[in-house]
Amino acid sequence: MSSGASVNPEGGSAQHAGDTGLRRCRENDTGGSARHAGDTCPEWTASARDHPGFSGRDDSGPRLRIVVGVTGGIAAYKAVFLVRGFVLDGHDVHVVPTAAALRFVGLPTWEAISRNPVNTDPFDDVAEVRHVALGQSADLIVIAPATANSLAKLATGLADDLLGTTVLASEAPLVIAPAMHREMWENAATQANIATLRARGHTVVGPGDGQLTGDDRGVGRMSEPTEIAAAALAVVVASTGRRTRSADLAGARTRSADLVGQRILITAGGTREPLDPVRFFGNRSSGRQGVALAEAAIERGGEVVFIAANLEVPEPGGCDIHRVSTAAELREATLAAAGTARIVIMAAAVADYRPVTVSETKIKKQGDASLTLTFVANPDILAELGHSSHPGTVLVGFAAETEPEDAQLLRVARAKQEAKGADILVVNRVGWDTGFGDADNEVVVLGAAGRVLTSTNGSKMSVAHAILDAVLAHDTPT
Ligand code: CTP
Repeated sequence: MSSGASVNPEGGSAQHAGDTGLRRCRENDTGGSARHAGDTCPEWTASARDHPGFSGRDDSGPRLRIVVGVTGGIAAYKAVFLVRGFVLDGHDVHVVPTAAALRFVGLPTWEAISRNPVNTDPFDDVAEVRHVALGQSADLIVIAPATANSLAKLATGLADDLLGTTVLASEAPLVIAPAMHREMWENAATQANIATLRARGHTVVGPGDGQLTGDDRGVGRMSEPTEIAAAALAVVVASTGRRTRSADLAGARTRSADLVGQRILITAGGTREPLDPVRFFGNRSSGRQGVALAEAAIERGGEVVFIAANLEVPEPGGCDIHRVSTAAELREATLAAAGTARIVIMAAAVADYRPVTVSETKIKKQGDASLTLTFVANPDILAELGHSSHPGTVLVGFAAETEPEDAQLLRVARAKQEAKGADILVVNRVGWDTGFGDADNEVVVLGAAGRVLTSTNGSKMSVAHAILDAVLAHDTPT
């Protein structure tokens, strides 16, 4: 690239269909309107067995006592399917809706679906000390949907309702599925609460990208019930060693806690090379795919070191964050952390060139005369890592390319993988109106000798999990 403007890995839908799987991305479906879910719902019964999060009736594994906390958001209707799936898997499910949740889905629905009485008031059944008994006896607590307000309450340990006392009185793993409008999710207060909850060891599933309740789109959709169930059951396996048939399925088919005890270094965003005190030479990378990778790795129990270069999206919570701006700063931070990482993922778009000189004062316009800037090459961080010995570390690079033809795209990507010595290369297509900051992405993952390991499309979170799956399936170099 003669200008030195690096392309980035924040790719979205591809323009052309082709053999490599780089097909146009599908819109993220909203899940549609609520269906009536009851004991006679044949739709769910049929589909539960086909879903990775649920196994259908499971009499073989231990029955878990699961508390499902439901807080006041429209996604409460999706929590009905979560409860239903757990019940069909044979678990003993107790729903604790907040007062606001009951304005979306009524108490009779929760009782019928969970097949257990539902209490909402800490002063119900005082003789049984109900406000703590449920939490004390739970194997797992799942809060879905978790509103911004409920995240704030959880983060501060407020116990002004039955759900609050239940959570505080419990030592069971806590899995939280947030749902809210994008602005609320991105608000610094919500992000701080999420970081607090993750740092405490709780598992946060989603939220996903896509259509929200109104006309708005973005991050904030509650994850699908099957995804929440899969993550929740995997957490039980990881924390207690108890295996259930449904947890086996969850771990095998979707995400699991397979990164526990592993350090993952992820770079994201785009570097900026200053020209003068007010201008820089940069690129259009938002950092969204890199953030999704960090969140996915954290969700799977990984210890993430995240190097953020000028992100346009909120930082991931619950990880060690280093903020950088230029390629030189990114290089320094990356090389310092790479040695102890099991996986290094170079998702950042690094400027290939920087101006030879940086003006101390603002460069002034010289009448109508043209301006010539001279650039010098930046070091290639991925190549530097790839060409040094890195036993025990899987090195993952990205290649965002503009080639319209799939075959040519893969040729370019394979040449890049070889030149840089990356163990794995994630390839996506970018263009003027493709890829940058999009909610979805479409990638092909290349392994040893440029072999296609997988090709996938969907939300950047689902793509992140697919990339991690491919990385973990890849043989660790020795
Ligand atoms: N990369 C890097 N250091 C650089 C440039 C890129 O580490 N100075 C990494 C990126 O983080 C990415 C991979 O190399 O993982 C590919 O980046 P890309 O910009 O696609 O490749 P370039 O080497 O810049 O090649 P070109 O711009 O010519 O396509």
